[in-house]
Amino acid sequence: METKVKNIDQATGVDESALNELFIDELKDIYWAEKHLVSALPKMAKAATSDELRTAIEAHLSETENHVTRLEDAFASINEKASAKKCEAMAGLIKEATEIVEDTKKGTFTRDAGIISAAQKVEHYEIASYGTLKTLATVLGYTEAAELLEATLNEEKNADNLLSKIAQAGINSKGIHEKK
Ligand SMILES: [Fe+2]
Repeated sequence: METKVKNIDQATGVDESALNELFIDELKDIYWAEKHLVSALPKMAKAATSDELRTAIEAHLSETENHVTRLEDAFASINEKASAKKCEAMAGLIKEATEIVEDTKKGTFTRDAGIISAAQKVEHYEIASYGTLKTLATVLGYTEAAELLEATLNEEKNADNLLSKIAQAGINSKGIHEKK
């Protein structure tokens, strides 16, 4: 007779308790990241040269506030208290964004190109995180959390695409020709 081992999925052999722990840990990481982005994005928007970039960052700020709420809903959906754990990667990315603003001149397209670069690094980190989280939620059978995570994942992808479009629309090429 087969012995049922606690927390090991008999069909897949996956240790669900370890996977669950990883999932919660990653949720806490991105929760920290989103909360800190809420305070970092207004500074990036304020530093932007073009109205187009400023508007895009401001729009993503209100989406980001919603990402924080969605994560709280995801925690609630699995009966976990929402808590944040310092995300060293996002802390580094935010620090880099601040440095780019400090190292570029106000009112230049070069600054915008730098802000776009920093913002896209942030988006790519988030896309990777939410992609993994959504997959983990699905594997663990957390349907509601998976849906919430997917909704945010799609908004991060859209934000990234918009930043690419703004960059391609000329900011980067203008930056090349700009006087120092
Ligand atoms: Fe986000």
